Amino acid sequence: MNVKPNENVTLKEYLARQKTEVDGMLEALIPDETIYPPEIFRAVRYSLFAGGKRIRPILCLAAAEAVGGKPEPILPVACAIEMIHTYSLIHDDLPAMDNDDYRRGRLTSHKVFGEDLAILAGDALLTEAFQVMTRREVAAGLPPARLLQVVREIAEAAGWFGMVGGQVLDVQSEGQTVAPETLYAIHRMKTGAMILVSLRTGAILAGAAEEALAALSDYGRQIGLAFQIADDILNVEGDKALLGKGTGSDAARGKVTFPLLLGLEASRSRAEELVKGAIEALAPFDEKAEPLRWIARYILERKS
Ligand code: IPE
Ligand code: IPE
Ligand code: MG
Ligand code: MG
Repeated sequence: MNVKPNENVTLKEYLARQKTEVDGMLEALIPDETIYPPEIFRAVRYSLFAGGKRIRPILCLAAAEAVGGKPEPILPVACAIEMIHTYSLIHDDLPAMDNDDYRRGRLTSHKVFGEDLAILAGDALLTEAFQVMTRREVAAGLPPARLLQVVREIAEAAGWFGMVGGQVLDVQSEGQTVAPETLYAIHRMKTGAMILVSLRTGAILAGAAEEALAALSDYGRQIGLAFQIADDILNVEGDKALLGKGTGSDAARGKVTFPLLLGLEASRSRAEELVKGAIEALAPFDEKAEPLRWIARYILERKS
């Protein structure tokens, strides 16, 4: 935590250090298997500690730092966002959804625990995320009006106009011909919304001014879309071992993706433009926003 960009740390070191902070807090927040009923904690921990990149909580903390905020009181809320994201992955992989066998380098939750426990692990992560954000010791360190705003925004980003809505469009579009606007809507909702709200959460809790919040939101919208375009590209040409999840599944399931609609080259160019635009949106910020600039570039270069 508190990695100062001017200390000349590399992106890799920065991400590794922030991930350690997030993992440490998640470890403290999630009961272990000695607690009753153990099976839910086993299933939740299996997916949560399987080695996700933690990009959403890291963005949340980086946004807070970009506006001069302290990351410590925000960390549990950042972790709650990761809990919601992990729930979305467990449910996304279910046989009724994408029917995937691997996630984060492991067999998917339903493969190990059965569909019943996988559904319940997702339910628990979503529900308990809101408990974590609003528990007394977390709320005590944050201005109540700001916390209330982010709780609402996180619910909206995860809900029917956000991730869930995007997943509905995603599964309904399988095997269909859809207009480019629908593809944009799917990506903006299923992936972009949670990335955008991660940034807004950090900024709002840190007391960002309106203009700073608007600029960070502009950055967030652009990297959010770029992130899912990169995910689509990796599903075509990524390395399974590095990704920790299967490839080729989008085409096999008839998913609507950027490579399908635009081709690989044009998808890459679109993602590059978005990342460039995102970095431009950070122009008003000083060196405290350097990690956000790094992360934008990383979204294109990532192999996992
Ligand atoms: C995967 O998200 C699902 C998408 C929304 C594209 P990540 O690529 O952030 O997955 P983890 O959290 O690192 O496993
Ligand atoms: C995932 O989208 C979006 C979520 C809300 C989980 P995908 O289905 O494209 O992501 P991966 O490729 O399985 O991680
Ligand atoms: Mg999916
Ligand atoms: Mg999927």
